[in-house]
Amino acid sequence: MNTYSLTQDLYYVGVNDRHTHLFENMLPLPYGVSYNSYLLIDDKTVLIDTVESQFADSFLENVKSVLGNRSLDYLVVNHMEPDHSSGIKAIRALYPNVKVVGNSKTIAMLQGFYGVNSDLLEVKEGDVLELGKHRLRFYMTPMVHWPEVMMAYEETEEILFSADAFGCFGTLDGAVLDKDLDLDKYYQEMYRYYANIVGKYGNPVQAALKKLGALSLKMICTLHGPVWTDSIAKTVGIYDQLSKYQGQEGVVIVYGSMYGHTEKMAEAVARGAMKYTKKVILHDVSKTDVSQILSDIFKYKGVIIGSATYCNALYPNISSLVEKIELRGLKNRVFAAFGNFTWAGATIKPLEAFATNLGWTLKSSYEVKQGLQPNDYEQLRTLGGEVAQAVIAQPEANN
Ligand SMILES: Cc1cc2nc3c(=O)[nH]c(=O)nc-3n(C[C@H](O)[C@H](O)[C@H](O)COP(=O)(O)O)c2cc1C
Ligand SMILES: [Fe+2]
Ligand SMILES: [Fe+2]
Repeated sequence: MNTYSLTQDLYYVGVNDRHTHLFENMLPLPYGVSYNSYLLIDDKTVLIDTVESQFADSFLENVKSVLGNRSLDYLVVNHMEPDHSSGIKAIRALYPNVKVVGNSKTIAMLQGFYGVNSDLLEVKEGDVLELGKHRLRFYMTPMVHWPEVMMAYEETEEILFSADAFGCFGTLDGAVLDKDLDLDKYYQEMYRYYANIVGKYGNPVQAALKKLGALSLKMICTLHGPVWTDSIAKTVGIYDQLSKYQGQEGVVIVYGSMYGHTEKMAEAVARGAMKYTKKVILHDVSKTDVSQILSDIFKYKGVIIGSATYCNALYPNISSLVEKIELRGLKNRVFAAFGNFTWAGATIKPLEAFATNLGWTLKSSYEVKQGLQPNDYEQLRTLGGEVAQAVIAQPEANN
């Protein structure tokens, strides 16, 4: 078994997934992902969330190794997405007397997904589960990914079980506490995790942060990635900034190009932006995975999109990117567009309409017919420079 003791009575019993290529069958996992689960041992025993069912064998081994001869009294279900709930069947089979703890929405989903309709304990906002020395208080945090999401706060040791919030991709290789890990990869993956999975739910994340703001936190036990202790302030700060849709200083330039004209335009735009900030990131939409592009667009305040004209519309991969940004309702960005065409340009209008709909600040856009002339390079550098200047000139407080 691979379990870790987090405090005298709390154990990490989750698993690492290095097999799955695509999370949600869509998002690449270059560093894998962990499905975290926690076991608290007191007069009563309680498991908090389970793991993806294909890892049930290792998971049950972990749980059994900590419980020994004791039985499991409670299973708290903070989140019903199957990466955490599909292990419930295996736990109920091994511990048939376990009471499953959830709110009314959790209970409806338990019935819907797994046919569970007995041995349930419904909890509401502020309810407490007494365990002996420890007590868990429940806070409803709907839409911090799904409507049934809740968090459990252990009041004696000040530990928050935060469901998907404060999570990130990346397996836990040999340790689970933040202070024992090199955190670079997790923080990098936190932006990609947030942008792609939680990105649409900025307001619910803000509501949850306000609700939990008064709690003193010694440890945050998230469902993916490190257990946060020393780095709680930094981690909560990143979630706070992302959920307010605040961008950092920097410009992300994304282009879609078939024959290289739009790409040359992107290079000139980057050169113009680079005069004002070193944080210039250039992505070919057909090469870089869209999850990484979204991650960077969520991180930085300047966004410039370039497209070749394609069948009187945007280049299809750019269309698809734009749709993904719209779906997430990303706010507070400074934007400009550029495009290339042969007979009738059709890039600037839809790109400006997209940015206007999101309430972004627009700078002048620029379209070129066929090959680039020296003056075009000049214009494109100016375009890049204008966006860069705007993102360094605006202090965060004005977002
Ligand atoms: C499948 C296809 C569809 C195109 N549709 C249009 C179009 O509707 N209007 C237009 O002006 N140019 C159209 N073009 C021409 C390209 O926009 C033009 O070649 C442009 O220079 C390509 O930019 P790129 O070099 O960055 O790929 C089309 C090209 C292709 C291959
Ligand atoms: Fe989730
Ligand atoms: Fe999850």
